[in-house]
Amino acid sequence: MRILVIGSGAREHALLLGLSQDPAVTELHIAPGNAGMEPLAKLHAVKADDPSAVTALAQELGVDFVVIGPEIPLVAGVADALRAANIAVFGPNKDAARIEGSKAFAKDVMAAAGVRTAHAESILPGAEAAEIDAVLDRFGPVWVVKDDGLAAGKGVVVTPDREAARQHILDVHESGNPVLLETFLEGPEVSLFCLVDGETVVPLLPAQDHKRVHDNDEGPNTGGMGAYCPLPWLPENGVQRIVDEVCVPVAQEMVRRGCSYSGLLYAGLAWGPEGPAVVEFNCRFGDPETQAVLALLKTPLGVLLRSVADGTLQEQPPLLWEDGYALTVVLAAHNYPDTPRTGDIITGAEHAQVRHAGTAKNANGDYISAGGRVLNVVGTGPTLADARDSAYAVLSGITMDGGHYRSDIALPAVDGRITV
Ligand code: GLY
Repeated sequence: MRILVIGSGAREHALLLGLSQDPAVTELHIAPGNAGMEPLAKLHAVKADDPSAVTALAQELGVDFVVIGPEIPLVAGVADALRAANIAVFGPNKDAARIEGSKAFAKDVMAAAGVRTAHAESILPGAEAAEIDAVLDRFGPVWVVKDDGLAAGKGVVVTPDREAARQHILDVHESGNPVLLETFLEGPEVSLFCLVDGETVVPLLPAQDHKRVHDNDEGPNTGGMGAYCPLPWLPENGVQRIVDEVCVPVAQEMVRRGCSYSGLLYAGLAWGPEGPAVVEFNCRFGDPETQAVLALLKTPLGVLLRSVADGTLQEQPPLLWEDGYALTVVLAAHNYPDTPRTGDIITGAEHAQVRHAGTAKNANGDYISAGGRVLNVVGTGPTLADARDSAYAVLSGITMDGGHYRSDIALPAVDGRITV
């Protein structure tokens, strides 16, 4: 199988690595990719969110199918363009990608499907101060203020500070997007990725992201600073409950609306007193959770993703997983998640446990930082503590001026501090 992957982050590096281990995969291409992916795939300087350019590249390479990593190309209709050219693709069409692209659409689907989620109200750009105050009165504290557009995980502010909530509303309106205010959902967060092919839903291992930049969940939200899987604290029937109460009803509702889902549905949940409630959906694999989840997948990834693209997921045998745990820690650039500094030299990035995100090479062939989240280190082990030790041991051998990472990924779970 010849496969073209679209994207350039550590999630796509993890996808390439998984695909390269599938004996049915003969050739891998990536657009645009990053320097760390060169040993695995041929890089093509094509813009990921340009439907005609991606389709032309797939045709020129004669690939058997295309795997789209990030949400922006999906929301821009890259999967639609590929399907229109009779090229198999892993990833939903534009209509179905609205489950992530428009939070208001996602709320509407959940209401119709009877899925538990936070109550939300929309505030449109141009709203008067009095209207904003009235909505702030009806919510919070704590206030959950979301940019109702794509914001790479950084558009959400969760704060007990009313003025900070109001400022985020004004900032999002300034960018031209509507704002959603939501009730705060109690409970530890779960990321469950499901392969979805119409009404067929196959869950992967449950994972947990760490979104705040600093240890102890302090500081601003980021795209994700680390993750682990599976979740030792999740009730035994937890995954099945999420599938039955959330993912299957949503998949059925999408079919009913005529925008059947094909690809990866990411349910971001809080596990509260009544069980799972949806915080958000994404229309693609999560980053950084994918780097941990795929480290434990034994089922050949190429054949699996191709079955979703072909509409034959239902015929696939049950997924096979390694025993134990996987964990990933993100090394971020100086000043991330604000404006990250780029161009810092990185040493140790060639390690097999590293997945590259924002890296490039300088004229001397050194890896340098080229984005906010620079790389991930993945560790696996029979226990979560072993997986942590493995990842942090490799990370301690990597140097990058100004680089920072969280030292507490999965620590509350290891210490038994998460209860549901
Ligand atoms: N883990 C957060 C995201 O992928 O959006």
